[in-house]
Amino acid sequence: MKETIRVTLIYGSAREGRFCDTVADWVLSELRELGGCEVSILDPAELTFSGKGPDELSAAAIEAKLETADAFLILVPEYNHGYPAVLKAMIDSAYRPWHAKPVAFVSYGGISGGLRAVEQLRQVFAELHAVAIRDTVSLAHVWSQFDSQGHPFRPAQMKGPLIVMMRRLFWWARALRNARAETVYDSAAA
Ligand SMILES: Cc1cc2nc3c(=O)[nH]c(=O)nc-3n(C[C@H](O)[C@H](O)[C@H](O)COP(=O)(O)O)c2cc1C
Repeated sequence: MKETIRVTLIYGSAREGRFCDTVADWVLSELRELGGCEVSILDPAELTFSGKGPDELSAAAIEAKLETADAFLILVPEYNHGYPAVLKAMIDSAYRPWHAKPVAFVSYGGISGGLRAVEQLRQVFAELHAVAIRDTVSLAHVWSQFDSQGHPFRPAQMKGPLIVMMRRLFWWARALRNARAETVYDSAAA
């Protein structure tokens, strides 16, 4: 039997009235149905940030949620052709917990569906020794994709790419978990 994958689901927005919660609820319900994973949520709205980044308690909470993960799934909206500052503050507050682990994205926004934010994040995660996988779920004009109850208007069309991406994320999570168990990543280049 395949071992459960521990996924940390990272919310990329802390904005008042954010759409992130609608996207997250949809993702969480699909992951429950898919099975095979245990999901832990990292939500910047529950943390405290200043211009210097997260405070000590928040930094420790971020580190712990990243450390225990086999894989990361990031919900990222596009803000001015980039990704939100609060997401970067969370990313930058840890280093080793990202190493040799896979990252997938569900992006959303206006016309670009957040893809410009995702392309920038691929550069960021290369620097963190993380593996940003090829597949992406991108929701353009996101506010027109869900009804007032948060249900997708086209559930099958949205679900398909998410499941494909998650299966590939799980594949990478297993491969890299085995590789980390075999060789400590930091010692690979020693
Ligand atoms: C400050 C700001 C900048 C934005 N810039 C873009 C943009 O460049 N491209 C785009 O497609 N959508 C843009 N949007 C629309 C957001 O992607 C969309 O409102 C999304 O729902 C924001 O995520 P959130 O509600 O979870 O914070 C922007 C929204 C905000 C608040």
